[in-house]
Amino acid sequence: MVRRVRTAVFPVAGLGTRFLPATKAMPKEMLTVVDRPVIQYAVDEAREAGIEHFVFVTGRNKGVIEDHFDRQFELESTLEARGKTKALEELRRDLPRAGQTSFTRQQEPLGLGHAVWCARDLVGREPFALLLPDMIFQAKTGVLKQMMDAYEETGGNIIAVEEVDPQAVSSYGIVARGEGPDHGFSITGMVEKPKPEDAPSNLIISGRYILQPEIFMLLSEQTVGAGGEIQITDAMRHLMDLQHFTGVKYSGRSFDCGSKIGFLTANVAFALDRPDISEDFMAELRTMTEELPISIEA
Ligand code: G1P
Repeated sequence: MVRRVRTAVFPVAGLGTRFLPATKAMPKEMLTVVDRPVIQYAVDEAREAGIEHFVFVTGRNKGVIEDHFDRQFELESTLEARGKTKALEELRRDLPRAGQTSFTRQQEPLGLGHAVWCARDLVGREPFALLLPDMIFQAKTGVLKQMMDAYEETGGNIIAVEEVDPQAVSSYGIVARGEGPDHGFSITGMVEKPKPEDAPSNLIISGRYILQPEIFMLLSEQTVGAGGEIQITDAMRHLMDLQHFTGVKYSGRSFDCGSKIGFLTANVAFALDRPDISEDFMAELRTMTEELPISIEA
């Protein structure tokens, strides 16, 4: 029997410089896709996969994330008084239960590997999920749930992957694929942000991991890697000498909300998937795209 994954870590300390000035005073994780903050999508995905402890690694100016995952009594009683029961139910549904959230601070922006290491005492000696909230997904079964299914079979460490255009590999961690089917194959190597000519494949690490606690030991010894930062990919490569890594080519579609195009595309895709607004929004999009060539000529 594999050890159950109860805890998920959400690194949310990043400065969000690609979204300035929007992120000057507001965390990038609170930017909205339709009407939900980006971080909520990752938390919902974790809860669907059975996670019971939500650990956020935050930094300065991120206090509003903590507030978002708390009750707001004034708002709740106003909604109640106005009979807005659906909105009230939804607010309560989105919230982890009392005692299920923990927050720690990274203090210095030393890289993703360092952010994860900051969660070591909150995670303890248990396997845990790691979700990078910039990546959100449209998938019939949540991506972390798909990974949990693979984990039940294989145990060890699991990484969600997807194919990208070979020219895009230098923005991501890349894995080398060994034996096995799409829903659970052996990973034989990995490298962070390689040049296209050095990449072992075009399979990117999609920001979802299930990791064994031994990763913390390796992270505590980790030196800087790509971009002058402490990288989780480098620590995982070392852990590969001791433990098995399985890749899951998940079913679904990803949106990299860390980039402007990914973020805007996510807004369009999730709006078109919302029964309450999709029809009207589609009509607006049609009008805009029909008008587009005219306004360019003008
Ligand atoms: C991080 C990881 C990278 C992964 C990517 C997914 O990079 O280091 O391996 O592919 O997230 O979004 P970052 O986007 O933080 O540069």
